Amino acid sequence: MNDLLIRALRREPTERTPVWFMRQAGRCLPRYRELRMEEAFLDIVADPRTAADVTSLPLEYFPVDALVLFMDLSTPFEAAGLSVEMRSGVGPVVGAPWSGPEDVGRLQSFDPRDRLEHVLEAIRILVARERVPVLGFVGAPFTLCSYLLRGSRVSRLTGLRALVRGRVGLWDRLAGFWVEHLAEFAIAQHEAGAAAVQVFDSWVGVLDPETYRTRVLPHTRRLLRRLAAAGVPAIHFGTGNPALLPALADAGGDALGVDWRLPIDQAWEAVGADRAVQGNLDPAAILAGEEAALAATDDVLRRVDGRPGHIFNVGHGLDPASDPAVIRAVVDRVHSFEAAGV
Ligand code: CP3
Repeated sequence: MNDLLIRALRREPTERTPVWFMRQAGRCLPRYRELRMEEAFLDIVADPRTAADVTSLPLEYFPVDALVLFMDLSTPFEAAGLSVEMRSGVGPVVGAPWSGPEDVGRLQSFDPRDRLEHVLEAIRILVARERVPVLGFVGAPFTLCSYLLRGSRVSRLTGLRALVRGRVGLWDRLAGFWVEHLAEFAIAQHEAGAAAVQVFDSWVGVLDPETYRTRVLPHTRRLLRRLAAAGVPAIHFGTGNPALLPALADAGGDALGVDWRLPIDQAWEAVGADRAVQGNLDPAAILAGEEAALAATDDVLRRVDGRPGHIFNVGHGLDPASDPAVIRAVVDRVHSFEAAGV
């Protein structure tokens, strides 16, 4: 069993740096695009065998050290009684009768071990046949709830920011519902065999540090504390605003996932030496071609210089136009890198 990632999460020394990529199982893989001509996204997620096969697909193109489960942040919505449509170029859209946070009372309490059994079964299939660890995931409350309000990411989530600032009771109720259910879902993923769970706060960077600390951090912290108490290793990923890094670290996580906006050594300083760090290749470096991608990869590796606790990744998801051959070259470079003095 390849346990590099788990050892890195504990900040133990590893013979080479573990590497995986956010969005590695999706649209940058020709085989995935072929499959999607025949099957809808939600149908793939609903069928444990197909979901497991898509999760493993990256291994046919590049030898990553972890597989990220094929589903979506929005997968728990249906379990709570919401109807979800996956819109191309947009993402998950929640439909009628849900009209916004005022409908929080419509959310149905659910047991993930029952309503999300298909996801847990996909994990069991993967763990039985693969030699690399499987990563589960959930959305952080802020990012998850961004899909429960109207308004696009283009407007920098003004609706959600207004809710968080102005209708505190409603926000706390909505976030509170999801913290409870996402914690249980993440724990169930770990029980099914997921080696660790990533908590995605992909859109948190629209917030200022003060609003994050007072209104959002307490919810994310409760989620991460539940995971820690249950012994679930967690990667806490946030992107978009380096000023948030110390607060994101305060919220918890064995590792902090950081983006490319700060060089990784500076980001690690902001996060603190008591955490592992995941990142932080700019996904655009992969689009820029092999030479640029390898130069940027070397820069990340040199800045880390063999320090225990580094998981190599992109700073945000791979772009669908990424060339698998360039991704492979990056993986090979990470695996062959030798830190100075090692
Ligand atoms: O390889 C992987 O990373 C595993 C699978 C995965 C998906 N979504 C599959 C998916 C993961 C980890 C996610 C998480 C997710 N979903 C996030 C956090 C990651 C991040 O990038 O910050 C977010 C914000 C979402 C919400 C979401 N789902 C968006 C914004 C989109 C893109 C919409 C588009 O078409 O541009 C999705 C759809 C989605 N999720 C796809 C995949 C493979 C594409 C759907 C398709 O195949 O048509």
